[in-house]
Amino acid sequence: MTQRTLVLLKPDAVRRGLTGEIISRIERKAGWRITALELRTLDTDTLEQHYGEHKGKPFYEPLVEFMSSGPVVAMIVEGERVIEGMRALAGPTDPIAAAPGSIRGDYGVIVRENLIHASDSEESAEREVKIFFPGLA
Ligand code: PPS
Repeated sequence: MTQRTLVLLKPDAVRRGLTGEIISRIERKAGWRITALELRTLDTDTLEQHYGEHKGKPFYEPLVEFMSSGPVVAMIVEGERVIEGMRALAGPTDPIAAAPGSIRGDYGVIVRENLIHASDSEESAEREVKIFFPGLA
């Protein structure tokens, strides 16, 4: 099942110089390929669209503040069952609960600064691709 997913390497990954390492892990995965990639700083409008479903939750404001604190790397990754696979490669939201070998398990320290976002379903992926790469939707 070939899919595409929207991946963001968050400002902590950029600040800590981890983007090359994370991109290498994605590229090493057989059958996956990066089909769009851009370094950009996100404005509040874009973040409201992206994280709108979480508005009102206690972590929403800190999340938006953190995600606009510096540039992110936005990517589209395509491949076989890439939505499920990329979530597994990222590891769970809380880095403490993430297994070694996953990106958050190896490099994550706290929940807010958890390095990477990956779409959680085909519907989310299409919605998020439209936000970040409207020309490719
Ligand atoms: S929920 O309520 O279960 O749907 O939330 P969850 O999927 O765990 O998280 C949704 C996004 O919010 C981020 N998050 C946080 N950011 C900052 N601080 C705290 N405490 C926090 N808790 C969750 C989480 O990383 C998810 O963002 P993405 O970009 O998908 O990683």
